[in-house]
Formats: sequence, C-alpha cells, structure tokens
Amino acid sequence: DDTKTGVKGLVDAGILNIPKIFVRPAEDLAADELNSSQKTIEVPIIDLSNIGESIRRKEIINEVKIASGEWGFFQVINHGIPLSVLDEMIEGIRSFNEQHLELKKEMYSRDSAKKVKFNSNFDLYTSKTADWRDTLQLTFLDSEPDPSQMPPVCRKSTMEYFKHMKRLGEALFELLSEALGLQPDHLNSIGCSKGCSIVTHYYPPCPQPKLTLGVRKHADPGILTVLLQNHMGGLQVLHDGQWFDVHPTRGGLVINVGDLLQVLSNDKFNSVKHRATANHVGPRISVPCFFSGHASLHDKSFGPIKELISEANPPRYKEFLLKEYIAKFLSSSLDNKPPKDYYK
Ligand code: SIN
Ligand code: FE2
Repeated sequence: DDTKTGVKGLVDAGILNIPKIFVRPAEDLAADELNSSQKTIEVPIIDLSNIGESIRRKEIINEVKIASGEWGFFQVINHGIPLSVLDEMIEGIRSFNEQHLELKKEMYSRDSAKKVKFNSNFDLYTSKTADWRDTLQLTFLDSEPDPSQMPPVCRKSTMEYFKHMKRLGEALFELLSEALGLQPDHLNSIGCSKGCSIVTHYYPPCPQPKLTLGVRKHADPGILTVLLQNHMGGLQVLHDGQWFDVHPTRGGLVINVGDLLQVLSNDKFNSVKHRATANHVGPRISVPCFFSGHASLHDKSFGPIKELISEANPPRYKEFLLKEYIAKFLSSSLDNKPPKDYYK
C-alpha cells in the first residue's frame, strides 16, 4: 500500500538513504570516459521556422535524415506550439504530483486496462530494480482523449497539449517520409501518427542520485516519441558508446525514433538507447507522447516499407504481427532482447 505514495512520498517522508530496490548495479550507472567539456558534438537541434519555404524545407528534411540516422534523436525548435501550451502542460503535471496525497491516491492503479492512472514503476513487481520517478499515464490510443477521465488539475492543459501533439506528429511524419525518400504523406497514410498516448513523469529530488537512475537505459518500442521536459535536465542518449546530455532548450521538444520506425525504415533510422539520471535537485518533469500507430496496423503484417527495399537494400527484418510484438512487450518478455533483434 505504501507504493501508492510514489517516490515523492519517500522524499516527503524525509528519507536520507534510498531504499535498496532503487540501487542499481554499478554497470548501469557508468558515466563515460570523456567529460562533457571534451565533447565537440551535440544532439542536433533543428529549427523548423520557415518550413513553408521550399529551399529551407529541403534543408530541414536533410537535417532530419542525418539526425534520425546518426543519432536517432533530435530537438525541434520553432515548431509552432505556443510556449504557453508547453509551460501549462508542465505546470499541470507539477500540480498533479504536488497536490494533496489523498487526491493522488484516488488515481492510483496498476490495472493495465485503465487509460488514466497514477503509479510508480509500472513493472515494480517484475523488475529487480526500480526507477526514481512517479508516473501519471494518460493513454487513450485510438480513442479520443476523454477529459472526464483526466485529473481536474491538469485536464485543460492536457487536452490542449494533445491537440497540438496530433498536429505536430503529422508534420513530423511528413518530414520523416521525405527524409526516407518517400511521398510526404506515406507514413501518415499507413497510420503512423495515430495511436498517440501521453505519459507524464515526475522525478523528485533524490538524496543519493549517484546510486540510482530516473529511468534505466532503454529504447522506445513504438514508432516515434515527442518529449517535453522542464529545465532540470538529466536525459542522456547513447551515441558512439558514450552518453550525451540532451540539454533542455526553452520551447524545444525532443524527438526520437522508436523501434518500429527503425524497422519500417529498414535501418535507415535508428532507435537509440537513452536514460535519465537522478538529481539532488528537482523535480524534473517530462512528458513523452508516444506515437504507436493506428489499430488497423496491429492485425497486418509489419516490416520494412516496400519502397525502401531493393536488390541493393534487402529487408533487414522478417515480417511480423504488431499485436504479437505488443503482447510480448507488455509481458516484458522482450526485456533482454530488443524487438529490433528479435525480428531480424
Ligand atoms: C523515457 O525515455 O522514458 C523518458 C525520458 C525522460 O524523462 O526524459
Ligand atoms: Fe524512452
């Protein structure tokens, strides 16, 4: 029952030593050899302003192509979503997590069928180590987001944010289609920008941040992730065997390729491992929006896009059923085997 108070409940109780379940094995915590001042490259930032001008649009598509292939990650700025929408989304999530515990407990659930729920570590009972974060999930997938199910403190801001995410998702999938050399509507027409769900994370300040992680190393299983983060920082991306910080950029959104987009692109794009560190100060707040595809994709066989396959570019993946992949993911049986290896 005390898991209902979340990680924030531990911090509010004044603990000085983190419970054992949060302590990660040393190999999970390794920083890299170079410190950040020695790094001369950074996760790309792509400026989407003037995207309507054809010369600029071509440049943007080329930047998207390079970033998605070499990093699997980039940030976008001047994407057209007002700063106030982003700030209010973050504030709504802060208010939810910092409201009276009794109100938060009302939303607590570990029922996988529930669309809106609050908990900490969805896999608490199946994984060895827990992450230093609490989560409010707002997962509507193919149905329209239902405001009546949302917590009142973040209802308005979340509904507004959803609306903008759908629009940005469509715009990004146009750029990604063109970056693959396809017609602009290709990825949208097969349903990539559908099935968008929002998860919100609250990473409380941690008394022993060097012993744990906000989120352990993983790659995203879906098609594409659009992530909003507050100013705290902590997100790191694995690139050439080293961890690179994704520095929070005011007004910026972090975009990353998921496993399924890597498969669709036949490895032209890469789904890259990332993690978030824990921090002495906080809270860090992040809001990933996962695009995982229209439900109609789930029954069809899934694999690299035919137009990207040729004699010179044979398919790198066998066809598979998306619903089987999702079932495997949910049962955690993909844990030691990323789907991109599984289906090779
Ligand atoms: C995640 O990848 O699970 C979230 C990362 C973040 O909070 O920045
Ligand atoms: Fe992730």
